[in-house]
Amino acid sequence: MSGIQRVGIVGAGLMGSGIAEVSARAGLDVVVTEVNQLALETGARRIEKSFERAVRGQKLSEQERDAALSRLRYTTNLDEFADRDLVVEAIAENEQAKLEVFTALDKVVAAPDAILASNTSSIPIMKLGMATTRPAYVVGLHFFNPVPVLKLVELIPSLLTSEETLAAATDFATGTLGKTVIRSQDRAGFVVNALLIPYLLSAIRMMESGFASVEDIDNGMVHGCSHPMGPLRLADLIGLDTVKAVAESMYEEFKEPLYTAPPLLLRMVDAGLLGKKSNRGFYDYQ
Ligand code: CAA
Repeated sequence: MSGIQRVGIVGAGLMGSGIAEVSARAGLDVVVTEVNQLALETGARRIEKSFERAVRGQKLSEQERDAALSRLRYTTNLDEFADRDLVVEAIAENEQAKLEVFTALDKVVAAPDAILASNTSSIPIMKLGMATTRPAYVVGLHFFNPVPVLKLVELIPSLLTSEETLAAATDFATGTLGKTVIRSQDRAGFVVNALLIPYLLSAIRMMESGFASVEDIDNGMVHGCSHPMGPLRLADLIGLDTVKAVAESMYEEFKEPLYTAPPLLLRMVDAGLLGKKSNRGFYDYQ
């Protein structure tokens, strides 16, 4: 068992709620925070629904579900993070907002060796570390959606992250959560999104240019390459706002045309067609 017992999760969106769920299921004491009560309640409901699904699928007994739920606490007050051993920030992919969270966590989290991790897909861990007075304890821990299903966690040290932080974060992800860890340099997109995002953007361009339909593009990759879902359905699952934000961070970093967000993606985000989470994206989820 890792030395990490008390975990804080900032953000109860798709990723934050998934990370909270797997942490509670692994026996940890978890506090989740959001900016307001509505967002907090939406996150709590998402976690409860996921527990129900696990019970229905006989992956969790009712007693295990109740025990895990009792280890979860929700608050809009970040001060309740004072006693945390590890905090995972999982808010929207917005650099300024993440910097503010790290500055606030630095003031609130009391233990000098507590780890402050970010689930960012693309924002430099070095910048987040420098928003604190303790960059040696700041690290990237990037999970994949749906968190309860997908095994991978990317571990991203900044130039100043200590070996002790890396060892403790690895132990948490592998030993406690049972995930598989890969390590990436602190470069926008890390390993998986550096490969995945250009593929998703290519699929959007292909559809936008009339080359093939949404269904045919997705069926092509599902039946031709045995992917669990096609690129447009996957973009809907990730959230089109997140796909756009990650692409923009990667373009900002590398200035490569393959990372530019296609106009259709921009318009869909403007229109609030964000994929599964807003009930409409390339597909309709009503
Ligand atoms: N929570 C818990 N369990 C879930 C779940 C969820 N949200 N969604 C699916 N599952 C479980 C189901 O219970 C089911 O379990 P069993 O096989 O044991 O019954 C299993 O996963 C398969 O689910 P379904 O049969 O309902 O559906 P499926 O076979 O179509 O799988 C999927 C759904 C797991 C989402 C699968 O399509 C998949 O893995 N897709 C690819 C997802 C992917 O690539 N994610 C990475 C996105 S990139 C990212 O997240 C990072 C980033 O920075 C952008």
